[in-house]
Amino acid sequence: RGSKLVGCGSAVPTTIISNDDLSKVVDTSDEWIAVRTGIRNRHVLAEGETVTSLSVEASKKALEMANVNPEDIDLLLLCTSTPDDLFGSAPQVQKELGCCNALAFDLTAACSGFVLGLITASRFIKGGGYENVLVIGADALSRYVDWMDRGTCILFGDAAGALVLQAVGDDQDSLLGFNLRSDGGGQKHLHVRVDNVPDTSHNGATTNGSKTNGTVIKLPARASYDCLQMNGKEVFRFAVRAVPQVIEAALQEAGLTGANLDWLLLHQANQRILDSVSQRLEIPTDKVISNLCNYGNTSAASIPLALDEAVRSGLVQPGHIVATAGFGAGLTWGSAIVRW
Ligand code: ACO
Repeated sequence: RGSKLVGCGSAVPTTIISNDDLSKVVDTSDEWIAVRTGIRNRHVLAEGETVTSLSVEASKKALEMANVNPEDIDLLLLCTSTPDDLFGSAPQVQKELGCCNALAFDLTAACSGFVLGLITASRFIKGGGYENVLVIGADALSRYVDWMDRGTCILFGDAAGALVLQAVGDDQDSLLGFNLRSDGGGQKHLHVRVDNVPDTSHNGATTNGSKTNGTVIKLPARASYDCLQMNGKEVFRFAVRAVPQVIEAALQEAGLTGANLDWLLLHQANQRILDSVSQRLEIPTDKVISNLCNYGNTSAASIPLALDEAVRSGLVQPGHIVATAGFGAGLTWGSAIVRW
């Protein structure tokens, strides 16, 4: 059994923050941001918008294109590192879409989340018992960015993108090859860590302990999250070294070379990363999909968002071969070679 890509959709929040807007908040400029990153605008959640609401909007469009009813979805994967509920938001998306027969769960792998979700979905289909799978990449890093840190706040935006995969015969498999990697040794370069907050809400308790019958019991501190911290130079170095390697490995598994590709669709982190990776792979710039100018780095949403735009604008046509690659926190990275 194989899995065919049969529909895509995307959604972005209504609020747009331009480089000029940011230059009123931190010491930066449109020129600095555009030259170093290629980014000009990013969309961020407005009041009432959530990761769940964006996911639902993107999924409805994908289901419509796929001509699949919500009740026919057997598996819903929400790839996100910024769920509305720490326990997982996928079941909420499932409920709002009416995917009443689906198993729904979250998958967390930052900017690599969508590629990992795509491969996970294809494995469920291959194993049998799952016919229609909805894979969503959605993130709202605007919630975790320090808006006073010009080194990071310029980079990120919020969005959701979705794909529907359908079980088909092996000969029609859209997934031609893949390669996935991770290395916790690089976590120090990019993270949103739990920050233990001293909890004094219990009567008589402190972070050091509470007295019960004369014995001091050490109570756990209540956790919240710190802001996103990044060593931009190290992440840049990692991306331009590791991403070409993982794409080469996925191409090899597919029995293809760069010359067979119609499109290179990388996680939309920075135009200079896209340029460097395509140069190393000797893929001409007119085959590189880029929309980060309008959205910034939307983490797990960036690949399905860019794919959806490219499909709907007619750039990506049925039968085209696309090399996708995600990379980011974890560190995690991976490539999937797909036929649209
Ligand atoms: N505006 C103006 N000046 C700035 C800004 C800004 N927004 N940010 C930094 N600078 C200054 C620095 O303070 C520094 O000044 P100094 O020379 O006086 O010390 C100078 O510009 C150079 O700063 P660098 O950090 O060295 O700039 P660099 O060229 O490395 O660009 C950037 C920074 C854009 C963040 C780059 O390193 C990058 O894109 N890295 C990859 C990041 C990335 O893709 N992260 C996401 C991964 S995906 C995920 O999982 C979330």
